[in-house]
Amino acid sequence: MPGSFLTIEGGEGVGKSTLMKALEVPLREMCPGREVIFTREPGGTPFADEVRGLFRRLPGGEKLNPGVEALLVNAARKDHVDQVIRPALERGAVVVCDRFADSTRVYQGHLGGVDRSVLESLLSFATGQLQPDLTLLLDLPAETMRDRVGQRDQDQDRYDGGDLNMYQAMRTGYLNLADEFAVRFAVVEASASPDEVLKACLSHCHRILKKGHKE
Ligand code: TMP
Repeated sequence: MPGSFLTIEGGEGVGKSTLMKALEVPLREMCPGREVIFTREPGGTPFADEVRGLFRRLPGGEKLNPGVEALLVNAARKDHVDQVIRPALERGAVVVCDRFADSTRVYQGHLGGVDRSVLESLLSFATGQLQPDLTLLLDLPAETMRDRVGQRDQDQDRYDGGDLNMYQAMRTGYLNLADEFAVRFAVVEASASPDEVLKACLSHCHRILKKGHKE
């Protein structure tokens, strides 16, 4: 496909939303004349946005089991890939997505205990084997993640009250994936200042966009 697919991943409170905003202008400047799309998961289509609402907060505070979460998030993902991501990549766009399949591997797999082979089948069906060209992993120590989540609006958060072991497992899950998919992953130290995080991320984007653009 002529486009470039970049994903941003990381545990809770690592600064993905801040980075997504900060990337908008410089990334557009980096590839003049190319369409650049910023999107996120769960979400990105009207149906997937509904799933996001459900996924993040169920009526009555009910908690879904991780297998149900995996099915739900992949239904949203299939809609997002089919309607938004793949058509954009076919047009040659740069697509930047806040979370993608690696979030499922970590949250529903590593943390939730859903069998990896089951998840890979779901992911393969939902994405049609689409893989990111670059995955920026914002990495933070577990203590920092926990402290930052503690300062967020608790009503918005699925992970308020999580203990340190859970954040450590989240971090380990992501770092394992960075080893497994070393070619596409770039690990960025998210405890650096926002400017430094942005600079590091832009230099990885530059490397991929320069190499990857097929006219
Ligand atoms: P965020 O706005 O913090 O990224 O919220 C999305 C939440 O959904 C976050 O807690 C991670 C979770 N999630 C999964 O559990 N599995 C997934 O596949 C995705 C995309 C997100």
